[in-house]
Amino acid sequence: MNKISSELEKARKYERERLAAPEKYPVFHVTAPVGWINDPNGFSLYQGEYHLFYQYHPYDNHWGPMHWGHCKTVDFIRWDRLPCALAPDMDYDGQGCFSGSAIEHEGKHILMYTGVKETEKQDGTRETFQTQSIAIGDGISYEKLEENPVICTDLLPEGSVKADFRDPKIWWEKGNFYAAVGGMDQKEGGQILLFSSRNIVEWKLEGVLDRNQNRYGTMWECPDFFDLHGRKILLVSAVAMQAEKTEFHNGNNSIYFVGTCDEEKNFRRGEAHEIDCGLDFYAPQTLETEDGRRIMIGWMHSWDNDLTPDGTAWNGMMTIPRELGLKGDRLIQNPVRELENYRRNKVVYRDVVLTCDGGERELYGINGRILDMTVEIQKGNYREFQISLAANQKNCTLLVHDKDRGMLRLDRTWSGMTHDLTAVRTIPWEKQDESKMKFRILMDRFSVEIFVNDGELAMSTVIYTDLSAQGIYFSCDGTAEFSVIKYDVDVPSPEYKI
Ligand code: FRU
Repeated sequence: MNKISSELEKARKYERERLAAPEKYPVFHVTAPVGWINDPNGFSLYQGEYHLFYQYHPYDNHWGPMHWGHCKTVDFIRWDRLPCALAPDMDYDGQGCFSGSAIEHEGKHILMYTGVKETEKQDGTRETFQTQSIAIGDGISYEKLEENPVICTDLLPEGSVKADFRDPKIWWEKGNFYAAVGGMDQKEGGQILLFSSRNIVEWKLEGVLDRNQNRYGTMWECPDFFDLHGRKILLVSAVAMQAEKTEFHNGNNSIYFVGTCDEEKNFRRGEAHEIDCGLDFYAPQTLETEDGRRIMIGWMHSWDNDLTPDGTAWNGMMTIPRELGLKGDRLIQNPVRELENYRRNKVVYRDVVLTCDGGERELYGINGRILDMTVEIQKGNYREFQISLAANQKNCTLLVHDKDRGMLRLDRTWSGMTHDLTAVRTIPWEKQDESKMKFRILMDRFSVEIFVNDGELAMSTVIYTDLSAQGIYFSCDGTAEFSVIKYDVDVPSPEYKI
């Protein structure tokens, strides 16, 4: 059991030796010790601890042959680093161990992932195969099954693209394993396929859970499928989407459907909505906690817009894990409540009056780059109310309530970017009830996550503004009355275990 290949050994040694100083990383957001990460993988509860794996290329801070990096936590805020869990070391996954998921079953931790293999055809062109494999382990070391791959392309329905069959989400239900797998049909575009198995080794196709009918993107990857307050939720990450009004602007977008599912696993869905309306969010996964909460974590990055400066030891981080809820047909997301245990140095201002002739207002003690801050606008007669974050003479990241147009705007144009690419996201905010204009803002050195009105909307962006930009300023072009509660977030640096 648990033989370690030379590729895995090499990755483990490499990451151990290259850990940078703690101040180079965010404090409560997961990053790799070194190198590139993308999707969260295998987000699961195992023996009372929450494990998170991630798409990982330790040797460079750009995407490359995919490994699975690994970390764990008991409270979603303080993470321990664990040794790299999977390397692309088999014939069937030699081109990469792509995304997948995990569950605990009979005391074992079961990982299900996509293996990528490329072969050369007789005419010299290359052909890609994506298949699904299993690795079983003890929370540190994982052994790939001899029977791998356990779901091959011969199980695909006719018309499916063999090179786009990936990212299994596994679960256990009434004596069976199920897996929802992303894919693509040649005619109808993105699809999610449902497979089942009694013993994890032999799988059969149950059917097509959903197809995008060429509406949302070209291919669907990274599915998640779960119950929430009596409804069924399908999350997919849709490749190459076209924008529709203010939604779906990032190229690849993660979207959700709220629906119902019968005993035969026929899913009926409602409308698609963007999960996070900011600039950096993709490939989320969820788990259920012991106390019944559904927690989602995403990759805080965008495939089309890599802002990480050259020379940074790591590239890519996860969002704060978010508690999910439903309000009607809309997903509600808020930072996990465990974050509150790490709040320090409370600073409170109530009934601050802002006028247009006051310029930018600074409040003593309201500043910083690692914080949890809530700003509530009680009254306002203005067209625009602006909060300027990570600010100094040169830089700022702006959150603007454009009341005139009924919009919220997130703008990172002056957030240390060296390429002036997509930097603004504007989304409708038509509620007129100002007493409920509430922004919870999390900052963790290189990111800003905004939760509007107790999670009705989330907007996330990375920023690489120089860390000397610590200012927070408020301004408006009329009058406003608001309050602020700000805490520093104090979390010990992750330790590298073993
Ligand atoms: C999504 C994705 C997955 C794939 C992985 C490869 O971001 O394209 O579909 O498994 O990244 O790293």
